[in-house]
Amino acid sequence: MATTQVHSTITNEHTGFELPTYHPVIITIDGPAGTGKSTVARQLAQRLGLDFLDTGAMYRAAAAIMIDRKIDNDEVGELVSCVLGADLHFDWSQDPPTILAWDIPIDHRIRDDDVTKHVSFVATIPELRHHMVRKQRVIGAQHPRLVTEGRDQGSVVFPDAAVKFYLDADPEVRARRRIEQLDLNGKVSLEEMCDRIIKRDKIDSTRSDGPLVCPDDAIRIDTSNIDLVGVINLLEEKTRERVSTLIEDE
Ligand code: DC
Repeated sequence: MATTQVHSTITNEHTGFELPTYHPVIITIDGPAGTGKSTVARQLAQRLGLDFLDTGAMYRAAAAIMIDRKIDNDEVGELVSCVLGADLHFDWSQDPPTILAWDIPIDHRIRDDDVTKHVSFVATIPELRHHMVRKQRVIGAQHPRLVTEGRDQGSVVFPDAAVKFYLDADPEVRARRRIEQLDLNGKVSLEEMCDRIIKRDKIDSTRSDGPLVCPDDAIRIDTSNIDLVGVINLLEEKTRERVSTLIEDE
């Protein structure tokens, strides 16, 4: 007679996604700009009924604070204490969660062009990165069923994540997507956007602390020739496979 193994699981009542009861399920999505990471991460979280963390928003918030408080590039101590004082946190009742500094939402500010230009520099500051990594781990402990996206989520912040993805795409494809996404058709040439993207990739992947790398145990996906829905389907399928293995092992 066949025996049925009973594992301790809980099922999300809205999505039907079965999760292990006693094991955190953190899904990391890393990769360069323009791979569709944010949209993919958010929609994957929605499909599976998990929380969603946009860590780029935290670095963007720090860059916005730096600009708005007129802190110079060499005043690292001042920047770090200002960001600490701002107590960056998310309002989890919103979808996607909104980011607040000094208890005031700053989502409207963090995608501005000056912030986008400055954020790569801000993200190279080790003291600031250490602060962000600590904060992200606290969020991971408070939201243990999480899809988190950034550059160092699988490599540094959550090395024991249940599932790790690394999304990539040709720089030209990413530049084209960026122009569409930011509605810059006719305002920025493909060549210039490509140039900006390559420069940003270089800063992100050569910094000493938390550089953009593909973790050895990550599932790498080249999204150059796959549309957004195709990428989300793929990630959902891989996540379901990995999580069911976790449940069997529990
Ligand atoms: O994903 P994004 O464009 O919102 O990221 C903004 C910047 O922050 C980008 O230069 C990379 C950096 N970043 C980082 O260094 N580490 C993260 N975990 C997330 C973003």
